[in-house]
Amino acid sequence: MKIAPSLLAAPLTKLSDALKTMVPGETDFLHLDVMDGHFVPQLSYGEAICEAISRETRVPLDVHLMVQKPEIEVPKYFNMKPHYISFHYETTSFPIRLAQSIRGQGIKAALAINPVTPIEAIIDLIPYFDMFLIMSIEPGFYGQSFLENSYDRIARFSKLRNEYCTRTGNEVLIEVDGGVTDKNIRSLKEVGVDICVAGSFVFKSDDPGQRVRQLKALCQ
Ligand code: DX5
Ligand code: ZN
Repeated sequence: MKIAPSLLAAPLTKLSDALKTMVPGETDFLHLDVMDGHFVPQLSYGEAICEAISRETRVPLDVHLMVQKPEIEVPKYFNMKPHYISFHYETTSFPIRLAQSIRGQGIKAALAINPVTPIEAIIDLIPYFDMFLIMSIEPGFYGQSFLENSYDRIARFSKLRNEYCTRTGNEVLIEVDGGVTDKNIRSLKEVGVDICVAGSFVFKSDDPGQRVRQLKALCQ
């Protein structure tokens, strides 16, 4: 299981301190939540802050765009060379073209899906993405409780993902985002999750690095 701590839950005025607790090799990805105040109610940060963060850490970045008009926003994140850029299924009619433009930059393309969207909607898109980010809360805020129907959604998707990967030899990962804790991470592994985002569980703690190690140890 790989862990992607979400910096959204770290104190905004102490981002630099939070970054120092994330050790490359131990923290797999740093999850950056870009929220535009339209697709989701809150505004967080954009490309300038993300770019500054990218200069302060060697942990690979996982940029999660919760924004309308991803065709305009996605290219703003190309320069900082994140490992993943994800945009939401609910925000575009042309996800395949956008994924191709991300992959064309040597960046892995990820598609995020909200709890309200039937998981079947993304099945035909499996060949075009490197990762699918299945939301286990409604996006917009950290600290919400994990939605229990996510297990079933992930398991259904994972079965089809596995069939596709076996047939083609391609790698497609599943990331889950929202309400991940020490209580549910093992069950998430069992239904096929490869990467867990964790915001409050990691950063609402005195020792974020230890929380990352704890989550990883639970899945070994
Ligand atoms: C919510 C964000 C999540 C959030 C996760 O809009 O996409 O990444 O920060 O935080 P927790 O783990 O506290 O649910
Ligand atoms: Zn997120």
